[in-house]
Amino acid sequence: MNLKNAVALITGGSSGIGRAIAQSLAASGARVAITGRDQRRLTETARELGVHPIHADVAVEADVERTYREVLANFGDLDILVNNAGSGVFKNLVDFERKDFEATFATNVTGAMLMAREAARHFVKRQRGNIVNIASTAALRGAPKGTAYYGSKFALRGMTECWRAELRQHNVRVFLVNPSEVLTNFYPTAGLPQKENATKLRAEDIAYVVKSMLEMDDRGFAPEVSIFATNPKD
Ligand SMILES: NC(=O)c1ccc[n+]([C@@H]2O[C@H](COP(=O)([O-])OP(=O)(O)OC[C@H]3O[C@@H](n4cnc5c(N)ncnc54)[C@H](OP(=O)(O)O)[C@@H]3O)[C@@H](O)[C@H]2O)c1
Repeated sequence: MNLKNAVALITGGSSGIGRAIAQSLAASGARVAITGRDQRRLTETARELGVHPIHADVAVEADVERTYREVLANFGDLDILVNNAGSGVFKNLVDFERKDFEATFATNVTGAMLMAREAARHFVKRQRGNIVNIASTAALRGAPKGTAYYGSKFALRGMTECWRAELRQHNVRVFLVNPSEVLTNFYPTAGLPQKENATKLRAEDIAYVVKSMLEMDDRGFAPEVSIFATNPKD
């Protein structure tokens, strides 16, 4: 697709991978809206990137519906949804509290579904569109403390396959992107230690792949891409 003047909506666009995707698509001439819960960070990022901020939580259905009303009122159309908002609580199974499990699923699974549902309603009507789901290599295999986060990314991967099976006949491309460790606010926010090794992936690396996948001619698509650091060392 040609990104020039395409309308892209990126959840969790105020930080890290979502921010880098917003910047990259905007630099290619797309008209971009970003969402996030922290109003100050959202407004600041939107100003820096010259994109449209929408203060919304993907896990709140009324926020999701308002997001689409605002996108359509502002831009008149939508071509790309990037389901990027995500977070995780990491604990051993024996220590897991239901509220932490449910909070992770509320954003990473229910939120992604609500956002995709509204996009799909629009895309089916116009018979074209793109949904990019940012999962993780955590969608590919399990690990200790991964009950909620890894479970949620496996679920997102499963939903992606279902949406692809439903929407392909309507010319909608549904992509899955699985980054391994990327240097963003994700690890600190989750309370996980992270070493800032120069060899580790940056948010821009993921944005580069997302832009390339979208830019391929609409007649084709790469359904799923996993991205690894060549030699992260740690
Ligand atoms: N960093 C990694 O190593 C890594 C690896 C693989 C996959 N990923 C995935 O990449 C995606 C982006 O993560 P990141 O690394 O860029 O982390 P990040 O820097 O912490 O950014 C997360 C973004 O999501 C937003 N967000 C979180 N919950 C939200 C909600 N309920 N509604 C709306 N926005 C929400 C955050 O803003 P607010 O908090 O203000 O809402 C923020 O803008 C996530 O899905 C993550 O699982 C990350």
